[in-house]
Amino acid sequence: MKPHLTTLLLILALPLLLQAAPDYTITNKHRVIEEASLNPNRVPIGTQFSYLNFTTLNGDTHDLDTLTEQGPVIFVFLATECPVAQRYAMRLRRLYTEFRTEKHTTLVAVYANENDSVDDIKAYVAKAGYTFLTVKDTTGRLARRLGATMTPQAVVIDTTGTLRYRGPIDDNRYETRVKHRYLHDALLATHTGAPVPVKETPAFGCTLHLSESGFPAEVTYSEHIASILQKNCQTCHRQGEVAPFTLANYEDAKVWATEIAEYTQARLMPPWRPAPGYGHFKSERLLTDTEIEMIAHWVAAGAPPGDLNAVPPTPEFHEGWALGEPDWIGEMPVEYEIGPEGEDEYRQFIIPTNFKTDMYVQAVDVQPGNRKTVHHVIPYLDVNGEARKLDALDPKPGYVTEGTGPGFDTVGSLGGWAPGVTPSVLPDGVGFLLPKGADIVMQVHYYRTGNVEYDRSRLGLYFSKTPNTAKLRIGDATNSKFVIPPGEAWHEVLASRNIKQDVYLLAAMPHMHLLGRDMRLTATTAEGEAHDLIWIKDWDFNWQDIYHYEEPLFLPAGSRVDLVAHFDNSVENPANPNDPPVPVGWGEKTTDEMCIGFFYYVKASEFSPK
Ligand code: HEC
Repeated sequence: MKPHLTTLLLILALPLLLQAAPDYTITNKHRVIEEASLNPNRVPIGTQFSYLNFTTLNGDTHDLDTLTEQGPVIFVFLATECPVAQRYAMRLRRLYTEFRTEKHTTLVAVYANENDSVDDIKAYVAKAGYTFLTVKDTTGRLARRLGATMTPQAVVIDTTGTLRYRGPIDDNRYETRVKHRYLHDALLATHTGAPVPVKETPAFGCTLHLSESGFPAEVTYSEHIASILQKNCQTCHRQGEVAPFTLANYEDAKVWATEIAEYTQARLMPPWRPAPGYGHFKSERLLTDTEIEMIAHWVAAGAPPGDLNAVPPTPEFHEGWALGEPDWIGEMPVEYEIGPEGEDEYRQFIIPTNFKTDMYVQAVDVQPGNRKTVHHVIPYLDVNGEARKLDALDPKPGYVTEGTGPGFDTVGSLGGWAPGVTPSVLPDGVGFLLPKGADIVMQVHYYRTGNVEYDRSRLGLYFSKTPNTAKLRIGDATNSKFVIPPGEAWHEVLASRNIKQDVYLLAAMPHMHLLGRDMRLTATTAEGEAHDLIWIKDWDFNWQDIYHYEEPLFLPAGSRVDLVAHFDNSVENPANPNDPPVPVGWGEKTTDEMCIGFFYYVKASEFSPK
């Protein structure tokens, strides 16, 4: 298409139009409404996207980072009633066939119109025979983030997450008259790394009508934001808790507004590492897309307070035992003093149990003596008195190890505890075995606060009340034979573990040290049925956790658990303890590495879920 004179004038007038609202004309050429050409889009070509995710009509969550690892991603905005969009059904299917397999392109059909119901879309998609991913963009979030204003309109994102093309699929709604296959040519260029011939050109068809930005006209703290922060942040961001500042009231939220918007959009807060859609876990700390957008919206509007007298009352937090009075309580033998500075400290305290028989523990809770400094707790078990010997050698209470392990050959642990979560309870009929006479070696990870802090934490056990409780077992896929070369930013390490009998998986716990970047665990049955177990995409050594599945996952004998992990041993990695980087392999010290995918399981011969 040659640029029209008006187009040229518009280009010249660009700077004046920067604030202009989208504008449309009825073109002679298409006899349909067309975007006023080159009104500068809010989302320019070249924009790089991060943390863009969406859920399909089937309920699967995908994110752009993962999809672009395989190939480019095309979003096509469609509408069930738009006659021009309807004309493109065959063309879209052919395009998908051409690019899907060998070129690993993902096509996502997005229905963003407020009036297109999920049922309308499902019916339409079935009739049109679309097999690509289909999304109902309920809040108009995808449309806004990708800068779409019309249907049909295509957006191409390349493998680096960069916006390479936005515009019509081609230049004529009648296929026989098409002269320029914009989308097709943009894709070819994207695949070969060539420049995209036409990066942006006005779309024509029907205007998108998004729901009123998905949000009320004025998003205010009192009406909309306070409840989000109360529910998702105050468990940690309150007086005396582990987070470094409180988010208890409007003043707090206002002061931290920018950070709140940034950290929630990046999904760094609330801390929850598993990628959505890869395993479903108990007590997921995840904001919904709408909540994240709502916060961003509020911050962009200058963080208005609204009627502060109408803020919902602060929730009551249980400072006591979340699961009620424990069956047994153990306490650190003495108070421990944590110095103001230095690296975090991992210290073990011995708590003898003296039970005369083996016990089965269904849940563990911890009451930190000092919530400011206790970051997390792992109760390890010792049946040989080895930890007592280590304790005797350390002049201070308990003992410290060079790494994050307990420093002796433990027979197991009783799970773990971290602030801000209700302790996980194992399913009825499953318990951690606490062998008779064992010592609990309570490892406490202490943050430094810049002040001298004192802590004496307690731990409560809840025993299984079921006769013949099944023993919780901990399996692992481990690679201990790797060396990460210095300077390498994405070093892959693999491991597998065969499952020899029928089991139920109950939880997963990836473990690496400072150089870990991501770890993904999958399980595949002998028949080839694959299950996503967990994917930590943005590993953070400080937020390791045991992730309990919402439902036990059955794996028949002959299944295999596979682990794929990546490590960053470049200078660019701010967590790299070595400058300049050195080769790093397996070891106990934090500055060594580990690569373990732990999984909690029970034998199916001993347990069946309710
Ligand atoms: C499970 C506990 C926990 C929850 C829940 C939590 N935070 Fe945090 N937050 C922390 C801790 C601990 C830190 C400091 C250390 C860190 O960044 O890991 C922190 C740090 C932050 C920071 C500062 C980061 C920086 O370094 O400047 C922001 C902003 C933040 N949180 C916002 C939020 C918001 C908003 C929510 C709720 C939507 C939230 N947090 C929920 C524990 C939590």
